[in-house]
Amino acid sequence: MCGIVAYIGKKDAYPILINGLKRLEYRGYDSAGVALLNDKNELNVYKTKGKVSDLEAFTKAKDISGHIGIAHTRWATHGEPNDINAHPHLSRSGNIALIHNGIIENYLTIRKELENRGYEFKSSTDTEVLVNLIEDVQLTQKVDLFEATRIALNHVNGAYAIALIEKGHPDTLIAARKGSPMVVGIGKNEFFIASDATPIVGLTSKVVYIENEEVMKVKLGEDLKLKTIDDVEITPYIQKLQLNLESIEKGGFDHFMLKEIYEQPTTVRDTMRGRLHADLGTVTLGGIFDYEKKILNARNIIIVACGTSWHAGLVGSYLIELYSGIRVKVEYASEFRYRNPVIFPDDVVIAISQSGETADTLAAIEIAKEKGATVLGICNVIGSSISRVTDAGVYTHAGPEIGVASTKAFTAQVAVLTMFAIRLAELTGYIPKSKIMELIHELDLIPEKIKTTLERSKDITKEIAMQMKDVHNALYLGRLQNFPVALEGALKLKEISYIHAEGYPAAEMKHGPIALIDKDMPVIFIATNKSTYEKVVSNVQEVKARQGKIISVVTEGDVLVKEMSDYVIEIPDTECTYAPLLATIPLQLLAYYIAVYRGCNVDQPRNLAKSVTVE
Ligand code: AGP
Repeated sequence: MCGIVAYIGKKDAYPILINGLKRLEYRGYDSAGVALLNDKNELNVYKTKGKVSDLEAFTKAKDISGHIGIAHTRWATHGEPNDINAHPHLSRSGNIALIHNGIIENYLTIRKELENRGYEFKSSTDTEVLVNLIEDVQLTQKVDLFEATRIALNHVNGAYAIALIEKGHPDTLIAARKGSPMVVGIGKNEFFIASDATPIVGLTSKVVYIENEEVMKVKLGEDLKLKTIDDVEITPYIQKLQLNLESIEKGGFDHFMLKEIYEQPTTVRDTMRGRLHADLGTVTLGGIFDYEKKILNARNIIIVACGTSWHAGLVGSYLIELYSGIRVKVEYASEFRYRNPVIFPDDVVIAISQSGETADTLAAIEIAKEKGATVLGICNVIGSSISRVTDAGVYTHAGPEIGVASTKAFTAQVAVLTMFAIRLAELTGYIPKSKIMELIHELDLIPEKIKTTLERSKDITKEIAMQMKDVHNALYLGRLQNFPVALEGALKLKEISYIHAEGYPAAEMKHGPIALIDKDMPVIFIATNKSTYEKVVSNVQEVKARQGKIISVVTEGDVLVKEMSDYVIEIPDTECTYAPLLATIPLQLLAYYIAVYRGCNVDQPRNLAKSVTVE
């Protein structure tokens, strides 16, 4: 996922741009670059493969002056990671510099047309094609950069968040977006542009979220100008920034991921605040209140998401069906969007996304809307694309999640889905009111039980991690709502320690995976279910009989599974459907410590991005 940062104002642009890129490093990238227009009207571009620190080393003793600039971290989509393909890219004349996050799907066609007119390209990127298309429009139609950008983007298919600067115009910054995120910070006669709010935190608290297919002109001394690519003037909607500085720093932890794991008692409490009323014995989800009738009368409820958010959706589906008798289908957004799904106008689709920018999930939403369905969102980023294209939704108040591996967002999503399931139980009367009261009171205790789980898990997960750090495979097994926990535990291990791991329904073991069991295969059981406990005990026995290494997450007081396990992590007793909110915690810590012991880059794992806004 690329990151973009731009600045125009009275201060030196370079330090603001570099710090902004560092705030965006969590998105994952392979090269970085900056373009600055100095007071002598020189447009200096510095870019290099590698990290932002490599860019800083590269710009030592170079002219980094200027009060206007653009900067970029690239996650290669077109062309390998190298200095040539890194952004910013210059137009043929050298007068315009552009940075871009997204994919121009028809760039080869445009490149061919420009080559037929004598253009030559240095890189293999779609971005270099775009900056030359814009200059070509400017020259042939004799218009300024703002108008040339608008016209050019009418010929472009795909996703973009772009910022441009031009020689001879030190007071003007142009930007535009479609499909890729962008936020504009408004300071005192200075402006900031970034892929998300993290580079802007602490610099201003006034922001404007640019909508799809909008082009913006920032000119010092003038108000921000905004229009659609169809040339319709837009009044910018200025909002208050929801983040603060300490919320994106590490707070004394070694990694953002560990900080975010330990934030979960607070973030789950914050997510339930104002929604779970234990004193009144009820739940209110204001964001979707007006849609409750539609939900109750829905022909189908379909959850679409990716990765960890999909796992949260799977947990939610178990609870919704158990508490309300309403059937729920959970789909990978990436599959849903391409298989021409059967969707009816009276369907309700629920999109779950931490970032609110995942391309596959956004595409799934578009398809559901085209087919007339009502689309609700569960997002963690206020003002994100998904939160703006859905009919309504519920924010998870987990705060910015910087670590690429999602942790606190997962438990916040499950908390929202649990409240949603309880609300549906109230509306349908499917389960007794006494049971609903029990569920509400127990849910209110969960933040404290997460805290206890963290305390109980810390040392034992370190000990297990030391034993597991050199394994090559791992199997995670759970039943019912602990099956998605098995999937989530396996994903955590895979994505930050690079150890192959699989999550499976425990009962499925006998249909194949049991062939994998030997003394070198660690098997992690999530064995907290009361209703299927005896079955899980048999599964543990089957693994034991084949010398498998057994690690079990059990409910405190467990005896049988504990006896057979090599390692046991005990979580507090709770309503069995709430186990995912607790059992996931030790699995997050286990993956974290294994990754640390393996020397992996925990917050920015290789090949991964925090928000997958490309397909
Ligand atoms: C989770 O640890 C991964 N980083 C990834 O699977 C993530 O959950 C997925 O890309 C979906 O992201 P979203 O929630 O922002 O849509």
